[in-house]
Amino acid sequence: MSTMLIKNGRVLDPSENLDGELDLYIVDGVISDIGKGLEANADETIDATGKLVVPGLIDIHVHLREPGGEAKETIKTGSRSAAAGGFTTVCCMPNTNPVLDSATGVNYVRAVAARDSLINVHPIAAVTKGQLGKEITEFGDLRFHGAVAFSDDGMPVYDAEIMRLALEYTAMLNMPIMNHSEIPELVGEGVAHHGRVAMKLGLRGVPRAAETASVARDIELAAETGGHVHICHVSTARACELIAEAKQRGIRVTAEVTPHHLLLTDQAIETFSTMARVAPPLRGAEDRDALRQALRNGTLDCIATDHAPHTDIEKNVPFQEAPPGMIGLDFSWALMYHEMVGAGVLTLSELVARMTIEPAKVLNLSGGSLAKGRNADVTIIDLEGTTQITRETIKSKSCNTPFLGKQYSSKIETTIVKGRVVYSNGQCTKLEAISHP
Ligand code: DOR
Ligand code: ZN
Repeated sequence: MSTMLIKNGRVLDPSENLDGELDLYIVDGVISDIGKGLEANADETIDATGKLVVPGLIDIHVHLREPGGEAKETIKTGSRSAAAGGFTTVCCMPNTNPVLDSATGVNYVRAVAARDSLINVHPIAAVTKGQLGKEITEFGDLRFHGAVAFSDDGMPVYDAEIMRLALEYTAMLNMPIMNHSEIPELVGEGVAHHGRVAMKLGLRGVPRAAETASVARDIELAAETGGHVHICHVSTARACELIAEAKQRGIRVTAEVTPHHLLLTDQAIETFSTMARVAPPLRGAEDRDALRQALRNGTLDCIATDHAPHTDIEKNVPFQEAPPGMIGLDFSWALMYHEMVGAGVLTLSELVARMTIEPAKVLNLSGGSLAKGRNADVTIIDLEGTTQITRETIKSKSCNTPFLGKQYSSKIETTIVKGRVVYSNGQCTKLEAISHP
């Protein structure tokens, strides 16, 4: 039997309505007791005085790039980046090479994660074979082998009938289709938000309707089939209105927003910085403000980083040629705490909920809670600390972020997965030390 006691921290768990100075007692990787001044002998005691203790953070939208994109990231390096960022669970997108569209692919990711990952990694499988949009994958089989959702992310599910069928089938499995909602004809050769900035820079624009028209379609198909559609990385004010109305009508729609769409506008590309090229693009201030309101009122269920690593070589090209995406796992907590709680957009408890229990609910994951009997996935945060974003501090294999060189308040102190410390004070634990309990 192995035991751990986390003492005197401010335990904040929105799923259990907990906020107070409490102790957490962990037995064999499971939360066994939670209370004031617990008297317990433990193999390991962590003094969390003055620190915030929350359920391990969950990110339901990351790109770990393995197999096929190991120059950008691997499951090993992505899991280190996640652990350093306070994440204990991530769900990885299937736009790898080959695409995760078969039991073999899903099993491969799970096997590599079991060997190389410090944290829980759940694969998301493709909606269509090869993400080519023509033929749906074997949803039941993929679920059996551990897929937690389906997505062709990177690309939308283009064909409306394929989307309808996919929602009809996944409704029976009670699993969501996570759609990258954009109409390809409206995206065209666009690389930035269709607005003044793109016009001035001579860049092709992506109109808001590329997203909003697709979100409207997805909502109608979810209504018709009873399926659950999850809208990835919402970028427009109008999409928030459509989602809010659909929720009111009882349609099974959920949605996520990224830290970059919450913080940045198309002004970030004014210097042609390829670091700020993302899909969907950074939009106007009115969209950014609407996203903040929608996250606050629950229209947008959760924050997801869309951690999308790309190498320096790939990003050091003219803007139009750079692949879209930026990393986020290492420092998203600090960005969100500093900017969202700091600006009064979210309370601390709301922020924790949107990075723990709310994403867990979207994908029916068991984490996001410190309730007795749950796996002891716990993150300890120093709200007085600071997070520096530098090439030296980033644990991801890639450093593509416009936030490089910046500093934000609060700091991830310790990350614990199933009762074992996987990250503490700037250092990831060696895999050998945790892989054999
Ligand atoms: O910016 C993005 N990058 N958006 C996506 O949908 C895909 C992602 C990637 O895979 O790089
Ligand atoms: Zn996407």
